[in-house]
Amino acid sequence: MYESDLALRLVPYVAGEQPKNVKLIKLNTNENPYPPSPRVAEAIAAVPADALRLYPDMDATPLCDAIARVNGVSPDMVFCGNGSDEVLAFAFAAFFAGKTLCAPDVTYSFYPVYADLFGVDYRTVPLKADFTVDVEGLMQGGPIALANPNAPTGMLLENGEVRRLAEHARANGAVLLVDEAYAAFAPHTAIDLLSEFDNVLITRTFSKSHQLAGMRVGYAIGSPRLISALKRIRDSFNSYPLDRLAQAAAEAAILDTAYTAETVRLVCEARDDCYNALMAAGIPVLKSATNFLFVKADPVDAAPVQQKLRDAGILVRHFKAERLKCWLRVTVGTKADMQVVTEKLLAFCKSV
Ligand SMILES: Cc1ncc(COP(=O)(O)O)c(C=O)c1O
Repeated sequence: MYESDLALRLVPYVAGEQPKNVKLIKLNTNENPYPPSPRVAEAIAAVPADALRLYPDMDATPLCDAIARVNGVSPDMVFCGNGSDEVLAFAFAAFFAGKTLCAPDVTYSFYPVYADLFGVDYRTVPLKADFTVDVEGLMQGGPIALANPNAPTGMLLENGEVRRLAEHARANGAVLLVDEAYAAFAPHTAIDLLSEFDNVLITRTFSKSHQLAGMRVGYAIGSPRLISALKRIRDSFNSYPLDRLAQAAAEAAILDTAYTAETVRLVCEARDDCYNALMAAGIPVLKSATNFLFVKADPVDAAPVQQKLRDAGILVRHFKAERLKCWLRVTVGTKADMQVVTEKLLAFCKSV
């Protein structure tokens, strides 16, 4: 047998389709519909080709400094990786391997995959009937992983509840991982907890709010102790996760705070307009703090609605799991695209 038992056993994460047909309105993987800040292209162009001979800065120092400044933390509290997926993978290895981890079910479907890869005993706690997180249920005496806002529901857990989870984990000598991939679209984040809790690790991404999904940049913020554990894992896997162009692009993107604020505002407005239109028509939608909407498209199964949308040139995500199969996850596009999408959703979804 050529393959290891591990390679044979793993059930990989299934990413959303990346279609060849560029004419589709692509709302299936929560990318940002706007281009990156103009400063990103300038920063990439300013990297001399000759510099690419040399390995990049393994710690992405100027980028970590910029992230630290924008978030009001010290640079030794920041770690950068090749997309937040990689940062999450390192976190699973650094803080959860060999332990029992609790996470909500439903949540980001990469967590069970990393758990399997890194030998984590992964326990799920069902969301409540209204899709809110069962905070008490997650308190089982060990580490906890929480996507907040959650995916694919889009719902945000209040800071007071996140704090309770942080306290519980700390009392048990464990880490609370808060995956804030979508935090830029939410009214609050857990960042203030970091001055108080050395066991809280926040992960973020440049893929959603900073228009750089194609660059693969993510980061973690947490206590220097947690950051050095992440570095030990990184340096046992790949010391240079971010190339020079990605570092330059991400630094320019995070420093252009005005551009991010404006594009986040446009996305949130389009999101709320679509939410209001669907709700007014009796189509259930969860209250979203992200750049996507979770829409109950059909009382039995939303797959045919997904197909009708596709036939109309709109790509959205459907999950087959029993609890999710009536719903579609619709990434928020430009205002113009969302007018078309809202019209089609109103035509194809069943109201209750
Ligand atoms: C909750 C959540 N976390 C992390 C990621 C990974 O983002 P990336 O690897 O692009 O940084 C995603 C991507 O969809 C996500 O939905």
